Amino acid sequence: GFIILDFGSQFTQLIARRLRELGYYSEIHAYNYPTEEIRKKNPYGIILSGGPNSVYESGSPLRDVAELRNISPLMAVCYGMQLLAHQLGGKVTKAEHREYGLNYVTWTSVVKGVPEKQKVWMSHGDVVEVPPKDFEVIGVSESNHPAAMRGPGVLAVQFHPEVAHTDHGNDLLKYFASEMCAAPADWDAPHIKDILIKEVQEKVGPTDHVLVGLSGGVDSTVVATLLTKALGANRVHCVFVDNGLLRKNEFENVLESYHRIGLNVKGVNASQEFLSELKGKEDPEDKRKTIGRVFIEVFDKSYDHALPIKWLAQGTLYPDVIESVSSVGGSVTIKSHHNVGGLPEKMKLGLVEPVRELFKDEVRALGAQLSLPREMLWRHPFPGPGLAIRVLGEVTEEKLKILKEADDVYISELRRRGLYDNIWQAFCVLLPVKTVGVQGDARTYDHVLALRAVTSSDGMTADWYPFDFKFLSEVSNLITNKVKGVNRVVYDVTSKPPGTIEWE
Ligand code: XMP
Repeated sequence: GFIILDFGSQFTQLIARRLRELGYYSEIHAYNYPTEEIRKKNPYGIILSGGPNSVYESGSPLRDVAELRNISPLMAVCYGMQLLAHQLGGKVTKAEHREYGLNYVTWTSVVKGVPEKQKVWMSHGDVVEVPPKDFEVIGVSESNHPAAMRGPGVLAVQFHPEVAHTDHGNDLLKYFASEMCAAPADWDAPHIKDILIKEVQEKVGPTDHVLVGLSGGVDSTVVATLLTKALGANRVHCVFVDNGLLRKNEFENVLESYHRIGLNVKGVNASQEFLSELKGKEDPEDKRKTIGRVFIEVFDKSYDHALPIKWLAQGTLYPDVIESVSSVGGSVTIKSHHNVGGLPEKMKLGLVEPVRELFKDEVRALGAQLSLPREMLWRHPFPGPGLAIRVLGEVTEEKLKILKEADDVYISELRRRGLYDNIWQAFCVLLPVKTVGVQGDARTYDHVLALRAVTSSDGMTADWYPFDFKFLSEVSNLITNKVKGVNRVVYDVTSKPPGTIEWE
């Protein structure tokens, strides 16, 4: 496959996703991934990602490019292009004008598949002033800076071919992969089903049993289904916990779908345990940690310990395991995600993570191959701590009830109007603020409810969804009329960053 070296760009994962979409297997590693490891993998090509640094600053991530060139053809993006120029004897300087956002590249030399002039997305303050020996500039930006250069076995671009705002970005990646690296396009996510089934069978062996925690989400459903295909339902014990923090009717509906697709699943109602542990807790992190702790306690009690269970299966995805620059440097905790983290150590079980090499869209494709129904595969993401982080402040049964009703109205309207699939995630937030209203000639003093809807490709960044005013007005009316306890509705117009998707 291809090796992508991460120099800290927020788009590094996209490079891997685009290559995989084009049929080329690719893996991401930190920029300082050892050369001998790369050589062992015998890659078709290596790609240097972008990054936020300047090559001439002290402390910026550097690596020997000439050495990489001896292994395979190279492609370099943004910071990668500057690094390459800097290391191979060219010259990089600070540009007078930063080029940020949309730009146009005029190609001075033909690259198969791309037109002479094309729209690109750029974000850089440095420019390659002098290319290295043996390199020629083959494309220039609107301000006449080198936007692309080529040398023996190397293609470098100043813009980001991996982002959707760049036209023909895929053609460029394809040119590199197929023309320069002569790589076969043989990565086909849906069809790795059989490979994964075999891997699971080999790892788990012929007699061991496996435990799976189901959340109602795509990843755990796909993992449980894959395991059931591989090992048979009597060896795959699924547990679905009702923490009382799920959407209206969610537990019953999802449990029924699990039965329908043939999972060996046990539903556990633990609503009261979660609610009583959450009593009096207002701080978001305190709430998250409490839910994580109670989940482990409930989960541990939920299955028959006499069974020969040796493994715990988890729906870990590739973005969780990439050893990227941000994980090398150690980033700050914005929110602690508590799902089943910490479980395997505590329960002394081995870990099975059959989809840890896949991106979310690949997991969905795999799910489709496993014949999972469309509505199970295309649900909006739902956080582990559930509605507890959407009732701001202390969680009570009464507030949960209001939120569930409002959420049900909102999501039903999205579905009814065909908007659900255009949106990454939509939900309501119940604010710990009451305001005065008037309903049926009487004064009310009730909660404010916020609506949230965002578009995103991976949850890392997000934009608020531009509903038309008519929709907002109609949903607001429906909610204030139908949901007792809410007399005011507002819409959240904050992207991420600076906000996060959830409010807590
Ligand atoms: P934020 O709010 O951090 O959310 O912008 C990004 C994505 O993660 C989801 N989320 C969680 N998912 N356990 C989860 O499984 C959690 O504790 C958790 N907190 C946030 C959130 O819904 C969004 O999709």
